[in-house]
Formats: sequence, structure tokens, C-alpha cells
Amino acid sequence: MKRLNNQVAIVTGAGRGIGKAIASHYAREGAKVVIAELDESLGKKLEGELTSSGAEALFIKTDVSKLADIEALTQATQQYFGSIDVLVNNAGVTKSLGFFEVSEDDWDWIHGVTSKGLFFCMQSVARVMKAQGHGRIVNIASIAGKGYPSTSNISYAGAKGAVIAMTRIAASTLASDNINVNAICPGVTRTELYYEVVKGKIKTLGKSEAEIIEMFDGTIPIKRSNEPEDIADLAVFLASNEARNVTGQSWNVDGGLVCD
Ligand SMILES: NC(=O)c1ccc[n+]([C@@H]2O[C@H](COP(=O)([O-])OP(=O)(O)OC[C@H]3O[C@@H](n4cnc5c(N)ncnc54)[C@H](O)[C@@H]3O)[C@@H](O)[C@H]2O)c1
Repeated sequence: MKRLNNQVAIVTGAGRGIGKAIASHYAREGAKVVIAELDESLGKKLEGELTSSGAEALFIKTDVSKLADIEALTQATQQYFGSIDVLVNNAGVTKSLGFFEVSEDDWDWIHGVTSKGLFFCMQSVARVMKAQGHGRIVNIASIAGKGYPSTSNISYAGAKGAVIAMTRIAASTLASDNINVNAICPGVTRTELYYEVVKGKIKTLGKSEAEIIEMFDGTIPIKRSNEPEDIADLAVFLASNEARNVTGQSWNVDGGLVCD
């Protein structure tokens, strides 16, 4: 028996990386997946891959920093699939910046997508879930939000801290409506972004890809960085009936970098 049979799941930022792995795992587990993605070519490509594997999938071009896009996403999903059982707030953005380099534009961009966009997606979709009498929300935070110092920048860490706090508040507010809200806090995860950083280090340090990855992994207690699938496995569990009494938690998947 598939663990998410016929569940309708929206995954934001699903075009690549962690979001793509979650959308693919959900489809494999029988979910009908809405790919809420800013990049049209990535979104269409994944829609094609999932539907040709036999799953039901729909790409809806969405910028989660825009409230009008979020409302259109909620409405279009309901119209097309009839319900929304699971929301995965995965879209998040950042770049490498020093403490004194963060500008107002950087702050607004990072927070606009990563914390503001996430809140308004929760608010919009939770209205539907409340009326249905059930729902699961999975927020992709980061160990940066728990103060892990090797973060890309302080503004991003603040936005992810907000995600963890909002997860707790949303969980307690929505519990009586049978809506579970949890967060996943990934550590170092091998997405496209990660390999861009590795490529940069190959040039600057003159080492091979394997040596650079070994160097990065050396800082992790378990000596292994995440594949996107490590996050997707937990996201399946949190959306499934097996997690029916789990809510308000922030789960680290990081090989032991942060223990709390
Ligand atoms: N990769 C890591 O090491 C890591 C670690 C901790 C947390 N995270 C978090 O995991 C999530 C996914 O990270 P990733 O590494 O897969 O990122 P990624 O950059 O590889 O993918 C992000 C996806 O989101 C889309 N996107 C960007 N802005 C958007 C917007 N405004 N609206 C809708 N979609 C948008 C992008 O087009 C892209 O497809 C993010 O929230 C990130 O902060 C990643």
C-alpha cells in the first residue's frame, strides 16, 4: 500500500533540489502533486517526468513572495484536484554574504520568499484544510535557523528561525482543526546550489571534486552530507498517517551538526 495514496500535495520550489526530491517521492507514494515553481522550464520538465512515470502532476507557475500568486495556486489546486491534503513549503533563497554585506534588498528578497512567502502559503492553504477538517504542513527550515554558525548569511538564518517559530505557533493554532505542522531542518545537502559551491572551490583550491566533498564532509560528525532524498524520506513520513500525532516539531537532518 502506498503511503500517500490519492493525497493532493502542493510542493513549493519543486523544480530542482530538495523540492524536486520531495515531489518525486510523494508521486512515487501515490500522491497527486502540484509543482508550485517560479522557473517555468524546471516546473514543466518535472511535470512531464512525473506524469510519464504514471503519477498525476500539475505545474502551476508560482512566485511565493507574491500573495496574488499564492491565492491563485490555492484556487487552481482546489479546482483541478478538489482538495489540498498536504502543503510542503520548500521554496527558500539565499546567497553567501558577510555580516556587513547584507543590504536591504538582500534582506527583502530572502525574507520575502523564505519567511513571508512561507507564512502566506500556510495561511491560504490552511483555510482550505480547516474547511476539510484535516491537513499536513511540512516547512523546510534549516539548521541555520537554530544558530548553526556556518550559514550563508545572517538574514537567511533569521528567516529560517522565523520558520521554526511559525511552525510551533501554526501547530498549536491549527491542532484543533486536525492540521499537523512540522519543520525539517536540513544540514549540508547536495543540491545544485551545493555543487556550484564545490565547483568554485575546485578552481580556487586546485583540488578534485572528491577532495572538496571530503573536506566538506569532514566537518560533519557522521562524515556524510545529505542527498536531497534524505530530506524527502522524512517529508514522506511527516505527510503520512504514521505521523498523525506528530506536530509542532523541527527535525534536524544533518549528520549530527546540531543536536537539540
Ligand atoms: N541545500 C542545502 O544545503 C540546504 C540546507 C538547509 C536548508 N535548505 C533549504 O531547503 C530548501 C530547498 O533548497 P535547495 O538547496 O533545494 O534549493 P535550490 O536553489 O536548489 O532550489 C530551490 C527551488 O526554489 C525555486 N524558487 C526560488 N524562488 C522561488 C519563489 N519565489 N517562488 C517559487 N519557487 C521559487 C527555484 O527556482 C528552485 O527550483 C530551501 O528552503 C533551502 O533554504 C537547503
